[in-house]
Amino acid sequence: MIKPNLTSHEKNGLSSYTLINEYGLSIEVLNLGGIICSINTPDRNGVFEDIVLGFKDPKHYLGEHPYFGAVAGRYANRIADGKFSLEGNEFTLAQNNDTNHLHGGIKGFDKVLWNVESLKNENGIQLSYTSKDGEEGYPGNLSVTVDYVLTKDNILKVKYRAQTDKTTVINLTQHSYFNLSGDFAAQILDHELQLNADKYLPLDNTQIPVGNYQSVVGTPFDFSTPKTIGRDIEDKNKQLEIGSGYDHCWVINNPNNEIVKAAEVYHPQSGRTMDVYTDQPGMQCYTGNFMDNTLPSKTGGTYGPRSGFCLETQHFPNAPNEPNFPTTILNPGETFTSETWFQFSVK
Ligand code: BGC
Repeated sequence: MIKPNLTSHEKNGLSSYTLINEYGLSIEVLNLGGIICSINTPDRNGVFEDIVLGFKDPKHYLGEHPYFGAVAGRYANRIADGKFSLEGNEFTLAQNNDTNHLHGGIKGFDKVLWNVESLKNENGIQLSYTSKDGEEGYPGNLSVTVDYVLTKDNILKVKYRAQTDKTTVINLTQHSYFNLSGDFAAQILDHELQLNADKYLPLDNTQIPVGNYQSVVGTPFDFSTPKTIGRDIEDKNKQLEIGSGYDHCWVINNPNNEIVKAAEVYHPQSGRTMDVYTDQPGMQCYTGNFMDNTLPSKTGGTYGPRSGFCLETQHFPNAPNEPNFPTTILNPGETFTSETWFQFSVK
């Protein structure tokens, strides 16, 4: 049996929990929003640095921020016009991203307090939250757990489970912003990215998928072999214009819904790598285009555009209104499960 290596302390009324493994890799999590507020990993010379964006003072997480490190839900990503129908009933959600609904609404899973317990047989914690029937407009009491487990192979496993008492929709993701350089003043354009995806979802002008799957071949969206994030990001391309860079969902090559490697990231200068595995059909790759130097970085200075990237494993945006996308409906009596792994290493 593995003994959980867990410390907890209070900071500004918020609780923080630190997981450490035998190599010294550590991950700090808040009860607020399940926010991962630091991940310390070594570079190729063994120098540990924090590789996720966030705040030094946790009280900043209580204010406006672009979902740094948080669990996004009940429906991560966008739902067109904040509306969807289920079993003949129309549901209206907050339009908190222009006319669309984003990341669960005004007070999504990123802004609520989760109950936190240590796991018995693993080096990890379990966060739990019950979202009430009607909360943010969604139907059904939904009980959700999110496990964060740190393994001896330097993998952070994120495991989601949920059950409802009325038919509802669900899409959960982890919204960490990574910068493997450990230097938050540096842009992430030099990171090499490879995605296990032959297709992506093109967007309309409001960032809602138009509904078809588009081949990446011959487009700036082709990461099927490694290339730097910055190589094509400024290409003249309508889709890049819509996202002000990459802010799109790739369709992961995963016909059997197994846990597959979805992404590999390598930062040449530090040697740090991150591999992402998931059983989800999609991955929103967001290159931090909308960060505008208004929020204080952990190391002094502010977070500018492209100072971090998110690899948000998830179902497809707006699936509740797109019958052709894999379903995001959860019925009473069913259990929603999903799993994503982030593996840290050096080259
Ligand atoms: C979305 C972006 C949004 C960001 C912060 C990402 O998941 O795709 O469009 O700006 O979250 O809200």
